[in-house]
Amino acid sequence: MGIQISPSMLASDFANLAAEAERVSNSDWLHVDVMDNHFVPNLTLGMPVVEALAKATATPLDCHLMIEDPDRWAPGYVEAGASSVTFHVEAATAPVRLARELRAKGAKAGMGLRPATPIEPYEDLLPELDMLLVMTVEPGFGGQSFLDLCVPKIRRTRQLIDKHGLEMWLQVDGGVSLETIERCAEAGADVFVAGSAVFRADDPNQMVEHLRAAAEKASCL
Ligand code: DX5
Ligand code: ZN
Repeated sequence: MGIQISPSMLASDFANLAAEAERVSNSDWLHVDVMDNHFVPNLTLGMPVVEALAKATATPLDCHLMIEDPDRWAPGYVEAGASSVTFHVEAATAPVRLARELRAKGAKAGMGLRPATPIEPYEDLLPELDMLLVMTVEPGFGGQSFLDLCVPKIRRTRQLIDKHGLEMWLQVDGGVSLETIERCAEAGADVFVAGSAVFRADDPNQMVEHLRAAAEKASCL
């Protein structure tokens, strides 16, 4: 399926989202962090901004919903133009129903796990999903340090995906940089979200390419 680099717009200039998307035109996806000040202690943006950004860029939008009650709100992000929508399992009431609804609306369905949430209880749900997101920081803010304690979970998740013979993305998000991307790729991740690493670089597009090259070299896939 190939390595995907998904720069997090959270680290970009919110006053110039369309221009910021252009600065990372080499990227495969654009990661959009939706936070509601309840599931996480931070508030970012919602459906109208996603809708505007979807019209302003040709790059697929990868929406990461750090919100409560995703059962109610997540499908609207598909209508707003997201190509993938990731909800958090800790917040979802009926993850199977929600994943099916997202797929029925034409999006990739993603499910996110906070660092303390194990993958094993959700093994049977994997066929319902297109992507598993293993958070490598506590969600809520950009610029945090990568949590190495999450690497074994990346590896175990990839083993479960392989055990079931599934084709699904394994995304990592939080503290991903040239320093940390190799250990994620080596453990089996293939979608890499990077906020500060990309947007704080002098040349964000060049950083996307550096990250891609590092991930491809270290990938176990
Ligand atoms: C954090 C968000 C991330 C964040 C990553 O809760 O989900 O997507 O933007 O930022 P960096 O790459 O700076 O850790
Ligand atoms: Zn995110």
